Amino acid sequence: MLDAPKKAGAAKAMQGPPTDFQQHLKTLEAQGLLVRVDRPINKDTELHALVRWQFVGGIPEHQRRAFLFTNVHGSDGRKFDMPVVVGALAASSQIYALGMGRPVEEIEAAWSQAIANPIPPVRVTAAPCQEVVVTGDDLRGPGKGLAALPVPISTPGYDVAPYLTATLVVTRDPETGIRNVGTYRGQLKATDRLGVRMGTRIGGAGGYLHWLKHRKAKTPMPVAFAIGASPVMMFTGPMKLPLDLDEMAVAGGLAGAPIRTVKCITVDLDVPADAEIVIEGLIDPELLEPEAPFGESHGHIALEEFNMSMQVTAITHKRKPVFASIISEVTPSESSLVKRLAYEPMYLVHLRDRLGIKGVRRVVMHEPLSNLRKTIFVQCAHGMPRSEVWRALSGAATLLADCGKICIAVSEDIDPTNTDAVFWSLGYRANPVDDLHVMPYRARGHGPKTGLRENDSTLMIDATLKVPGPPLALPTREFMEGAKRIWEELKLPPLTPQAPWHGYSLGEWGDDWETFAQRAVKGEWEANGRDQFARRRGGINPELPVREVEGKK
Ligand SMILES: Cc1cc2nc3c(=O)[nH]c(=O)nc-3n(C[C@H](O)[C@H](O)[C@H](O)COP(=O)(O)O)c2cc1C
Repeated sequence: MLDAPKKAGAAKAMQGPPTDFQQHLKTLEAQGLLVRVDRPINKDTELHALVRWQFVGGIPEHQRRAFLFTNVHGSDGRKFDMPVVVGALAASSQIYALGMGRPVEEIEAAWSQAIANPIPPVRVTAAPCQEVVVTGDDLRGPGKGLAALPVPISTPGYDVAPYLTATLVVTRDPETGIRNVGTYRGQLKATDRLGVRMGTRIGGAGGYLHWLKHRKAKTPMPVAFAIGASPVMMFTGPMKLPLDLDEMAVAGGLAGAPIRTVKCITVDLDVPADAEIVIEGLIDPELLEPEAPFGESHGHIALEEFNMSMQVTAITHKRKPVFASIISEVTPSESSLVKRLAYEPMYLVHLRDRLGIKGVRRVVMHEPLSNLRKTIFVQCAHGMPRSEVWRALSGAATLLADCGKICIAVSEDIDPTNTDAVFWSLGYRANPVDDLHVMPYRARGHGPKTGLRENDSTLMIDATLKVPGPPLALPTREFMEGAKRIWEELKLPPLTPQAPWHGYSLGEWGDDWETFAQRAVKGEWEANGRDQFARRRGGINPELPVREVEGKK
């Protein structure tokens, strides 16, 4: 099932981002990145659990696929004509890159350019997402309204209901008119009612700030959930953009052309015209009702809490829509990947370009289990002044209120995605008493609400190389490469080199030792012995470094 993706189509697929979700699915299938499942699948018990295996089953990221289910039924036996797809946005970086229409290496630049040069959307009058319109009594009754959609249960065994996850939730500031688009979950509660959670924490949902204004004015909040749209549009939903920046214009910047929007049928909001499905409605400005339990992206079950209630006023969709769902909960997941690929470039641009810390090479957010927000690694150039390392740590710790509880700076030879290498760096390059700083007063951020509710704090560690050190004790590159050729000639099991796989200098080396090493590999070790014999001396203790006596050569 998980063959290498097809190469031939790769260049073709990079001819710009797909403007339609189903066009994207076709590209994924052509590239061998989509698994079609035609056997019957229960959306309430089997669907998400099956896709989960590719995140917990030891399958490397590049072998992850989108899953398209064409024969879906519910636990009540109801069958759905509408297929369900999971993982189509960001099961892997490669899938995300196809959605962006660019190679992985260009994702960072694409986000920076789109944020700097947004392209406002254009409104159309006839839209694919309104080919079918369901309103009034057609929203109520068995199998009608929301019950007609094949919404899966994400965490069978814990979740209270099927949940919408691949959403673009559109709201508008009632005072300024500025629109917000965020990806928020939606709990199915009745065929015409949804539970909606908009994060209230600092750094939480933009839509929540709009709701606060509606609460003050005692006016219901118009809201629209678009489910499934062009990938570039979908990618802006989980992205943390400035409040006054229109996500649809940033999506236009990513697409290189305006996003087509259409006015909703029953509320005064615009949605992407090419969305698969749109759910329109009004959120009560006062009454909240219990919502959840639901498996959260912080990796724990969010327990029941009071959240917003949305009365559905219309469901519109394409004539033949595909229902999109995002796999989230414990990380890595599609939800963490879709955020990581947008957030990491945003941090790099912030530190390197906005704060002007030139030595910052890379920012990595720790993904497995801890879900990006808690731990951030900043990779710094060798020789970067310590004051600049600390400025980078502070910048990473403060850009977003709910990200960067633990920030660790490492040198450029350390791969921050390799936690073994990070621990190696902490062990040998950081002195806790000098290189560790704890800053009080951090908001607790995204996590289980159980337990203490007061402030958290920030831990910053400079684990960069501060003074030159001796070379890494592995054969140098030329010898390892030579040996690899022999390994392959012997047809031993295929190698996947894990850095560091060859020795390299960390600054403390000299011509004398280089001469010794060169002689040794030529078999002239006795010359080295003669040299060392000539330098014998007494009156000193063993383990005294030679350079402390003879000086540097
Ligand atoms: C699958 C998925 C589900 C999410 N669910 C929620 C949610 O229910 N509530 C929320 O506040 N944020 C949720 N998020 C995170 C937001 O999308 C993210 O914070 C985003 O920046 C919000 O956009 P906004 O800043 O425009 O509100 C979710 C993200 C993903 C990928």
